[in-house]
Amino acid sequence: MGATGAADTVVSVPAVITSLKDDHLQQVRALASRTGRAEAGGCLLEGAALITQAVEAGATLRFALAAEGASDPVASLLAGARVPVMVAKESVLRQAVRLNRSVSWLAVAELAATDDDQPYGDFAVVLDNVLDPGNLGTIVRTAVGLGVADIVCTDPETDLTSRRVLDASRAAVLRARLRRYETPVEAVRDLRERGFEVVATSGRARTLQGSVPLSGRPVALVVGNETDGVADEVLDLADHVVRIPMSGEVESLNVGVATGISLYELRARMALASLGVTVAELTATVSDLRDSGYVGEDAVERALTGFTAAERAQFQGFLRRMRENLRRDE
Ligand SMILES: C[S@@+](CC[C@H](N)C(=O)[O-])C[C@H]1O[C@@H](n2cnc3c(N)ncnc32)[C@H](O)[C@@H]1O
Repeated sequence: MGATGAADTVVSVPAVITSLKDDHLQQVRALASRTGRAEAGGCLLEGAALITQAVEAGATLRFALAAEGASDPVASLLAGARVPVMVAKESVLRQAVRLNRSVSWLAVAELAATDDDQPYGDFAVVLDNVLDPGNLGTIVRTAVGLGVADIVCTDPETDLTSRRVLDASRAAVLRARLRRYETPVEAVRDLRERGFEVVATSGRARTLQGSVPLSGRPVALVVGNETDGVADEVLDLADHVVRIPMSGEVESLNVGVATGISLYELRARMALASLGVTVAELTATVSDLRDSGYVGEDAVERALTGFTAAERAQFQGFLRRMRENLRRDE
């Protein structure tokens, strides 16, 4: 006890960062450029929403910066994830990220390096010169949302770590396995060697996506540049070039939207192909079900001849859901 009788405890109040020279702010500034992000192996997250999405994506955050007096929607989340949080003057945060609007939260996230030996999943999305950050973010978000983690960049300039891509992807970039090649041709050759069936997309293709004869192997979906589409030499290398049918009123679909449609349809087709069920067989079975008042188990049994027990069970479940849908449609 001191002479005044007050406790001798020293309470340390963390200093508020007031200078751009602070090491954390220097790190933030370095992440403004693509090369800076590549060198640091990190990227910048701005705003509580994106920081929350990144933590929920399992990303490792090196540190976070809160503006002095900012409300703390992420403070407990960051504490739970053991992320160091510093407080800085709002004006220096704004200068560090070169924004004219107010900035309340920033964080630096690790970019997980994808090792070449890390195995691919059963589906990959190959970006052939897709440029718009909004489209890139939409593609990554949709792919990850549909269970596809392998995103293949085929140009050293393609940057999936900019603020706009991270925002549009809702931090899904941090969940993806980012693969890098120098050119789309090199990527497609390598994926073919790895056993992928390469499906390139074009609004001018002859084959309709819905009738592409997939073999059941892993699929690499190639999507193209906003103006030029998929390069001709890549179309030539592909196993299939497919089209999403359009009414003729528009020349092509937005690449983000087209990728979503292709992912959804090809994933479903792949599942059927790996079961050994062709669309023709499925259609015949559904017609049988319709003709027989869709109660005829004999029609189902006929359709299932030759399948293994596991496949039969899976197919039975599928048909049960289809019957329910048909009943609902009546
Ligand atoms: C805006 S489009 C490119 C249009 C370009 N003028 C062309 O002719 O290919 C961008 C990408 O979206 C995809 N895409 C757009 N519409 C499509 C469609 N109807 N069928 C298949 N893919 C499509 C393709 O990957 C295409 O490369």
